[in-house]
Amino acid sequence: MQKNTTCTLPEKYNSDTFKQHGYKIIDILADYLSDATSGSIKEVLPNVTPDEMLNLWDEDISEEGGANFESLIIKAIDYSNHLHSPRYIGHQVAPALPYAVLADAVSAMLSNGAAIYEVGPVNTILETKIIRWMSKLIGYNNNSGGFLTSGGSLGNLTALLTARQAKTGLDIWTDGVDQKSSKLAVLTSEQNHYSIKKAIQIMGLGEHAAISVPTNENYQMTLETITDAYNQGVKDGKKIFAVVASACSTATGSYDALEEIAKFCKEKDIWLHVDGAHGAPALISDKYKSLLKGIEHADSAVWDAHKMMLMPHIITAVIFKDEKNSYKAFSQKASYLFEKDKNGDWANLAHRTMECTKGMMALKLYTSLMVYGSKFFGDYVTQMYDLTKKCAEIIKNSERFELAIEPQSNIICFRYLDQQESDLNLLQNKIRKEILESGHFYIVKATLRGKVYLRCTLINPLTTENTFIELLEEIKKTSKQICLTK
Ligand SMILES: Cc1ncc(COP(=O)(O)O)c(C=O)c1O
Repeated sequence: MQKNTTCTLPEKYNSDTFKQHGYKIIDILADYLSDATSGSIKEVLPNVTPDEMLNLWDEDISEEGGANFESLIIKAIDYSNHLHSPRYIGHQVAPALPYAVLADAVSAMLSNGAAIYEVGPVNTILETKIIRWMSKLIGYNNNSGGFLTSGGSLGNLTALLTARQAKTGLDIWTDGVDQKSSKLAVLTSEQNHYSIKKAIQIMGLGEHAAISVPTNENYQMTLETITDAYNQGVKDGKKIFAVVASACSTATGSYDALEEIAKFCKEKDIWLHVDGAHGAPALISDKYKSLLKGIEHADSAVWDAHKMMLMPHIITAVIFKDEKNSYKAFSQKASYLFEKDKNGDWANLAHRTMECTKGMMALKLYTSLMVYGSKFFGDYVTQMYDLTKKCAEIIKNSERFELAIEPQSNIICFRYLDQQESDLNLLQNKIRKEILESGHFYIVKATLRGKVYLRCTLINPLTTENTFIELLEEIKKTSKQICLTK
């Protein structure tokens, strides 16, 4: 163990020491990147239980410290999931672009927030530039605006809080939830991300306020399904103030029929929020932007850049068609922070966000966009959506594999039908468990209308058709072993 001999505070900020460790860490990360992207890291995730992991990390924080920094970093890398491996095809988490990783290190050093302009001048303005770029892609005009926040879940909550203030005629922000608000409800697809229901519950409206709208055979909410749910809700005495549409949904990557839903919302004077956490970046792809046709009529949208824009998390945009509405979700008086400053108050973002201190999230995306250009990101989305369609063809041409639906994005659900096993749900669960334990691939699962499917998100640009074929071979082999050892 290295022994700390000096411990005066100023020395901890010594730039030469920083440089020395910094070079070492960059070398470690560069080697890691090379190993992960080339696939030479064999195990995509560690086969270590939470209890084992608990024991792997020292709990004794001694007074003197003295541990070796680089060793701790190497250990953290070794026992983490390796998203840069082409065989990471699990959750919707992007392998971070190296440029963006470097920008995040700069953000960490500067640690400028964005509560008010004064605490993060560059950060605030870069957020605004990113929002303007996204707004244009959505098709909003100059009245639009928004900000960045810490994740799609928080973004959805923020948008729904705004919708409630804007559409119900009740000032729940001031008066609290009471008898008058007890009938408020939101129409939300049965396929929506769970953060929508969570948001409605956090808002104090109760579980019953989330009216689940059935979806069609492709797991999409349509005019037909939403009309029926609305009529039933009204009959039950509900006051429906918002619809949340998915673009796309989490489990199957399905895009709701935004154009017809938007028309419906306009007719009924309901707020339309589009959860584009995963699928909004399709707007950058010439080939796939039509999937979001109609989003320009939505009152608000959420767009994660840590999913389909290759950013390290976390970075989520909340965008409003009418920026004025964005002041309705949160509004606090804090004399120590906010001054009445008519000139430039738009730049004091904490009026409109849950966070006070917030990560300096804009720098990584702004610099990546400036360095690589938007076409790079559009091409990336196109490549991954195209690849997923090819993988669906491979499934359809493979004996004993069954596709859930034709993929609309880069999410694909399928299952293996082994004649030796009659309980196919159990089989998929066992296959996934075995594959995760082997560490060769990271895949997830989804239950759709009672059937368990294996689920992949093809999010890593280094994943190819061959990677997918390799996975199918592994599934077959695993299933055979499971059936033999029954
Ligand atoms: C459609 C959708 N919305 C929201 C979220 C939540 O986003 P976050 O994990 O950034 O909170 C997800 C996450 O997978 C998602 O798929």
